[in-house]
Amino acid sequence: MESHIPALLAWYTAHDRQLPWRVRKGRANPYHVWLSEIMLQQTTSAAVAPYYEKFLALWPTVQALAAAEQNAVLAAWAGLGYYARARNLHACAQVVVQQYQGQFPLYYDDLLKLPGIGAYTAAAIATICAGQRVAVVDGNVMRVIARVFALDRLKPKLEHEVRARLTPLIPSDPAAFAQALMDLGNQVCTPRNPKCEVCPMQPACAAFSAKTQELYPIKSIKKSKETRNIAIFAVIRNNTEILLRQRTEKGLLANMIEIPSAGWQNGYEANTSHALNDAPFRLPYQLLPTSYTHVFTHFTAHVHVWLAHVGSTIDAPSDMWFDSLTTAHTHALPSIMKKGLEIVITHKNNIVSPTPCG
Ligand code: ADE
Ligand code: SF4
Repeated sequence: MESHIPALLAWYTAHDRQLPWRVRKGRANPYHVWLSEIMLQQTTSAAVAPYYEKFLALWPTVQALAAAEQNAVLAAWAGLGYYARARNLHACAQVVVQQYQGQFPLYYDDLLKLPGIGAYTAAAIATICAGQRVAVVDGNVMRVIARVFALDRLKPKLEHEVRARLTPLIPSDPAAFAQALMDLGNQVCTPRNPKCEVCPMQPACAAFSAKTQELYPIKSIKKSKETRNIAIFAVIRNNTEILLRQRTEKGLLANMIEIPSAGWQNGYEANTSHALNDAPFRLPYQLLPTSYTHVFTHFTAHVHVWLAHVGSTIDAPSDMWFDSLTTAHTHALPSIMKKGLEIVITHKNNIVSPTPCG
């Protein structure tokens, strides 16, 4: 592979993606690179770009982000998923301000100690911002290197082997090398139908020679995901407001805002009247005809939506509040709740509850 690195770097120069967090000349800003790398974990560049711009507009520096309210950060993050990343992002900004006087650390070992920064992110920042010679191994890089060397190991051993193969090959521009491999994996050496005919690594690629490209990286047999059933209870006041609450600070979707929900278990009867025992008020709820699914890392959520209308005499319980239906989506509502909110808005006028008495 070593003799094909110049071809890889030339390919990168010719095909560099114009990503908002990339700089072509000089050193990249570590706050920008860190923010983009955290957002890019599990999310595509196209989805990340608008969030990245929004965060920089709201919080142009790590000091500004550290000083923000956690709820404001969660609200700006809402829709990107994996909300632990947003909480760690905020915690990390605070550590950088308190322990490093707001100067982002640049080297791998220091970066690794910060909240939310693992081996991949530490290597990416150290490489892109300081030119440190460390291997940057994300899913794209792993696939390229597993193919070039026809590596037969399964994850997580594969990751160690990729790092060991890559480290001695890092050339004098580690930032370009790392991003070239990431882009190659993203645009050419794709999981299916890799474009080997235009690939600069092709003469060095063992999988290409053996016509076994798509076998790599070798996958272990996956368990299928379990389903968890969820009921959400949309209480609509005056046809203009919806009852919301903040989730607890521990566990799934911690501190995010939700339409009151119950269940979150395999086998929970979210679409029968049993679920109404878990509703915030005793009301004549009706089940909406539309249920939906939302995929989390470890399970698939199947969500049933119950709806009831109330008049202005009803006050929210102490840990909840009524919020405008038209602006509710601007809060830190995770995607699973944004989907529910849309369904509620679509169906609310087809469901007429009797005026509750008492
Ligand atoms: N994916 C995550 N970070 C990236 C980067 N810096 N370049 C290309 N793809 C990426
Ligand atoms: Fe990937 Fe094909 Fe290039 Fe090998 S030749 S690195 S399989 S795109």
